[in-house]
Parts: sequence; C-alpha cells; structure tokens
Amino acid sequence: MKVNKICCIGAGYVGGPTMAVIALKCPEIQITVVDVNKDKINSWNGPLDQLPVFEPGLDQVIKQVRGRNLFFSADIDNSIFDSQMIFMAVNTPTKTSGEGAGMAADLKYVEECAKKIAEVSRSDKIIVEKSTLPVRTAEKIKEIIYKHRSNDVNFDIISNPEFLAEGTAIEDLFKSDRVLIGGDESFSGQRAVSALVEIYSKWIPKEKILTTNIWSSELAKLASNAMLAQRISSINSLSALCEKTGANIEELSRAIGMDNRIGPEFLKASVGFGGSCFKKDILNLVYLSKYYGLDDVADYWLQVLKINDYQKDRFTKKIISSFKNIRDKKVLVLGWAFKANTGDSRDSAAIYVAYNLICSGARVYIYDPVVSKAQILSDLNFLFKEDNISDVQKTIFSEKLFIINSFECEINSSDAIAIITEWDEFRDFDWNKVTKKPLIFDGRGILKDFYYSIGK
Ligand code: UDX
Ligand code: ADP
Repeated sequence: MKVNKICCIGAGYVGGPTMAVIALKCPEIQITVVDVNKDKINSWNGPLDQLPVFEPGLDQVIKQVRGRNLFFSADIDNSIFDSQMIFMAVNTPTKTSGEGAGMAADLKYVEECAKKIAEVSRSDKIIVEKSTLPVRTAEKIKEIIYKHRSNDVNFDIISNPEFLAEGTAIEDLFKSDRVLIGGDESFSGQRAVSALVEIYSKWIPKEKILTTNIWSSELAKLASNAMLAQRISSINSLSALCEKTGANIEELSRAIGMDNRIGPEFLKASVGFGGSCFKKDILNLVYLSKYYGLDDVADYWLQVLKINDYQKDRFTKKIISSFKNIRDKKVLVLGWAFKANTGDSRDSAAIYVAYNLICSGARVYIYDPVVSKAQILSDLNFLFKEDNISDVQKTIFSEKLFIINSFECEINSSDAIAIITEWDEFRDFDWNKVTKKPLIFDGRGILKDFYYSIGK
C-alpha cells in the first residue's frame, strides 16, 4: 500500500517529535497530528519558542515542515478518515485503580483510540502502535476494532515502539540505533510492515530496520527499558558500597565500562532514574511476569525499582542528617526535570527529594531553567494529595517553598544545595565564587569541589 497520508493520534513527547522528523524526511507524505487537548494543538501551531515539548533541535524541524506537510489539528475524525496509516501515540500511564492497579499499564486511552478509529474509518487502515504497550495489546486493539468497524474495512495492526530518549529525541530519530517493526505473518500484515519499512528507509539504513513478529516487538520495548534501568540501579547500588569502602564510583564505572562486553553507556551513578518510561515499563514487566506465574522473574525486575527508591531516599537522608535539625534550614534544589535538556518532570527524583525536605521542615528553594512553576507545584501537590496532607499543613509547607527564576543570588545564603539535574548551567557555574560554603550535595557527580557526591 502506498502511504501518502498519515494521522498521528497524540501530540505529546512521542507523537510531536516523531512526526516532525517523518515529515521532514518524507515531504511527499502529508501528516496530521491530532489530540483531544485543544490547548496543546494550539501551542503546536503557535510560536516556535513555546512549543508544548522542549526538545533541542525540534523548533528548527517544525519551522521547516509545519504548514508544508505537517499539520496539527483537533479534528480527529476527519484526519483518521483521510489517512491510510494511523500512529497511536497516546499516553499509557500505570493504572491507578481496578485489576493491576499500581502495576499494569492503563490502556483506556489506547482503547478509546481503537474505538474511534473503527467507528470513523471507511477505507482500509494500517494502525501503528507507537505508545509503549504491554505484550499482546495488538490482540486487544484488534478485538475492539472488529467489534466497532464498518463491515468491509480491513485493519492491519503493527508495532513500532519508540526508542527515542528525551533531550536527544531529534538526534535519536535522525540516527536511530535500530527501528523495530513487528507485524503478523499474514499477507496483509507483511504488506503493512513493508509500507512502514519504506517510510523509514528514506533515512535509516536498511540493515538497521529490524522486522519481527508483533509480540517480540511489543516485548522488546519493555525489555530494552528494563535493561537500561537495570544498569543504572546496578551502578547506583555500587555507589553505596563505594561510599563505605573508599572506592570511587566514577573510577569504578570507567573500569567496568571499558570491558567491551559491558560498554560505557548508562553507567553513570545518580540520585536515581526518572522519566515517564523506566518505572512504568518495569512495573508492566513485573505485572506480566506475575500474570504468567513467573514470580521469580517478577521479583528480579522489581528489585531494580527498589534500588532506585533506595537511592533517592539515601540521597535525601544524607542531606537531612547533615544538620542537627534541618527545620528552617535553607536548601536550594537545583534542577526539576528528570534529566537535562528536557522540560519533562515525570517521575523526576527532584520531586521525591524536595517533597521530603519540605516535610522535614526545611525552607526549600527550587530552580529549573525550563520546567514551569505551575508544573513544579502540580508535581508537589500530587504527593500532598497522595499522602492526605491537610490544608493547614500544606499552607505551612507552602510558606517555606520558593520557586525561583535564577539561582546564583541564592547560593551564598543557602545552608545546603542539592543538585538533581545535570543542566549545563550548574556544571559550568563557577563554584569558586561561592564565599560562605554551603554544603553541596551533588546527585549527578558533575562537580569537582563538593561536600557530598553520590558514590564518593
Ligand atoms: C528512556 C530510554 O532511554 C528510551 O530509549 C525510551 O524510548 C524511553 O525511555 P528517557 O526516559 O527519555 O528514555 O531518558 P534516558 O536518557 O533513558 O534517562 C532516564 C533516566 O535515567 C534519567 O533520569 C537519567 O538521568 C537517568 N540516567 C541515565 C542515570 O541516572 N544514569 C545513566 O547512566 C543514564
Ligand atoms: P508520551 O510521552 O507517550 O508522548 P504524552 O502524555 O506526552 O505521552 O502525550 C500523549 C498525548 O495523547 C496527550 O497529549 C493526550 O492528550 C493525547 N491523547 C490521549 N488520549 C487521546 C485520544 N483518545 N485521542 C486523542 N489524543 C489523545
């Protein structure tokens, strides 16, 4: 099938950048990105410095393709109706209620999409699963679609998981290590796979495009993220041992990573991994393993998350226990995003650290170059709500919480500084200018002169 019109449902961190790059590389294809959130669509159509996703290089790509062959629209039905290929890039958060709560992925948005596609479509469609989904979701999507479709419309569902990392999304999309496409073995399934292969072949070498069966593709996404997270938990667990023994975590990491079989990536000790994927995907893997009666496998992967919580906790306790009483001490939290070069704070270690400092009575000053004040407040409020913190208590805490627009002038009056995100401006800051030395807690190992740095 020759594809010349694509619809992408979901204009978030995955949908927006991915479609921008496909539009750039395939000018002959018209792509419309749709979303239920009209404000988001308006922002995508608005000024380039206020796009809803902060991602280095994204504005330049959008500048070239927006209005040429990339469009952002709230008209979901028409866009589905018009396209031959539909990407599903909606969010799949962890379920908060019902069976599998706290573990399994919530597929309600995916299911809504599937129903919508079935109801609106009057011609054959290729549906591409882009969101991270539990294994065998394609089967579920198929079931919903066949229940709601018009009789003579054929749907092929293929899986094409996204491996981009935030902060380097555009670079990752330009030069993917691999593109994975899973489809079923029927003639039309394979034809759908070929149609997507043809699109990626415009800029990805053929040998990097891997085609598999659909279940391998779905599981590969969960497994890749679990393996990456596992490396971070492994090095973070060793950082605790380094602190006890006098070994140096950076030296250890270099020594381990020089083994070709291990490699140097994802061995940087930190205050703990965050982001929208690692925790969610591991929980999903644990749930799946338990579902299939593989309790030992489930326990193994759960431990990766336990070490991550342990590391965040260890870091926070280190700060708190450095003072006889942390109450009313001024702590400057540097960085709110879960990593540098993104405005995303989902599951960021900063939320946990700041929340616990606030609850311990410290005066907490928070600075991030990109994350908005509204987002920081919403992240903290979520925890206040989860812990049933009373309004009175919340007001007391709020009086000691300051979200600031620059950090330099707060340094000398701080009692402690916690570096949570490895933004360049923290790395490049001239720390020698600091006159009264506050205690510096470096959760990223980016400073030479520090009071405490993970693993040293
Ligand atoms: C991850 C996967 O890398 C990507 O392939 C997948 O598509 C989505 O999930 P992302 O969450 O955007 O991407 O960022 P990533 O670079 O993987 O970092 C995740 C977390 O691990 C961050 O908090 C980061 O700071 C932390 N990290 C990473 C470490 O603590 N140490 C490291 O060595 C590497
Ligand atoms: P991700 O990081 O996976 O891209 P985001 O939350 O950034 O996740 O983006 C997912 C987007 O999908 C959101 O903007 C959300 O409004 C959108 N969305 C969710 N369900 C639907 C739906 N049924 N139809 C259209 N858009 C949807």
